[in-house]
Amino acid sequence: MNLQDWPEPIVRVQSLSESGLPIIPDRYIKPPSERPSPLITINSSDENIPIIDLTGLYGDDQDIRSSILNQISSACREWGFFQVINHGIRPELMDTARENWRQFFHLPMELKQAYANSPKTYEGYGSRLGVEKGAILDWSDYYFLHHTPSSLKDYNKWPAFPNSCREVIDEYCEELVKLCGRLMRVLSINLGLREDQLQNAIGGDNIGACMRVNFYPKCPQPDLALGLSPHSDPGGLTILLPDDHVAGLQVRRNDQWITVKPAKHAFIVNIGDQIQVVSNANYKSVEHRVIVNSGQERVSLAFFYNPKSDIPIEPVKDLVTAEKPSLYPAMTFDEYRLFIRTMGPKGKSQVDSMKSPR
Ligand code: OGA
Ligand code: NI
Repeated sequence: MNLQDWPEPIVRVQSLSESGLPIIPDRYIKPPSERPSPLITINSSDENIPIIDLTGLYGDDQDIRSSILNQISSACREWGFFQVINHGIRPELMDTARENWRQFFHLPMELKQAYANSPKTYEGYGSRLGVEKGAILDWSDYYFLHHTPSSLKDYNKWPAFPNSCREVIDEYCEELVKLCGRLMRVLSINLGLREDQLQNAIGGDNIGACMRVNFYPKCPQPDLALGLSPHSDPGGLTILLPDDHVAGLQVRRNDQWITVKPAKHAFIVNIGDQIQVVSNANYKSVEHRVIVNSGQERVSLAFFYNPKSDIPIEPVKDLVTAEKPSLYPAMTFDEYRLFIRTMGPKGKSQVDSMKSPR
């Protein structure tokens, strides 16, 4: 598969949206069975993913701490998705990070084009995921960058505008690396492991951290398209900062799509495929997608906490038993993520197809 270049010329969805076309090009029209159904969304309007208050997680009160651990345990098993509030990250930093990126996407197109990405590394300004010629595309643009390891961090591939952008991204990512470290310890304990075991299974201190900022322009025919097709996140943990005004993320629960209603200054946490692998499917990644609307654009920041990319990732030995044999063969994350980079978002088909032949 050719990962050097895109199979077709890139069209910025934002340009399409701003051109004021009353209808969307065929490339963005999903087949009827994959379109968002407004009916289902309305029916499930009172459901939401769990909201967990982390106040006291790092304190001495053991009752509070164990209550938080229990809530996280249930959320991981029943949803694979939850929101955290009072997570220790300054609300101003969250708002500043989001607004910096909103400003970036509102820069003149020539400035953004200087960062146009290629499927080789995906770093920079992009408008599609996957290199399948003729694929139906999602109604979004994005910006992808690496923060960790330092060998992959390249400020030249980070936006220079707005002026404070790089500084803010740095601080934001550092804070989220710390939050993920804490959550990894919680998940490890909840799985009955020592607190550092889960982290060690993905590379210890040598994890990868990267960010995809999603920009969903207004869409004149939101019932025919998706902002982001159903997928599970390939990495370890994802921490999403959603738009503060516009909903759009939907999480799959059985055969329903539940629209997430973000709490103020919450982060949305979800389990990625690699946690499913190292936990031997005690925790499962969950499919999600994004719907768009005709009235408002939407910005979200997805931070990915990933395994060290060149070491074999496999189920933690203590979670492999006679009753629950190892479900997944060892694979590096570099190999694993080639799938989404070539095929684009395809539900949970990759992790589901990996099951060891036994
Ligand atoms: C992602 C993602 C959801 C959103 O970037 O992987 O699922 O709300 N984003 O933008
Ligand atoms: Ni995702």
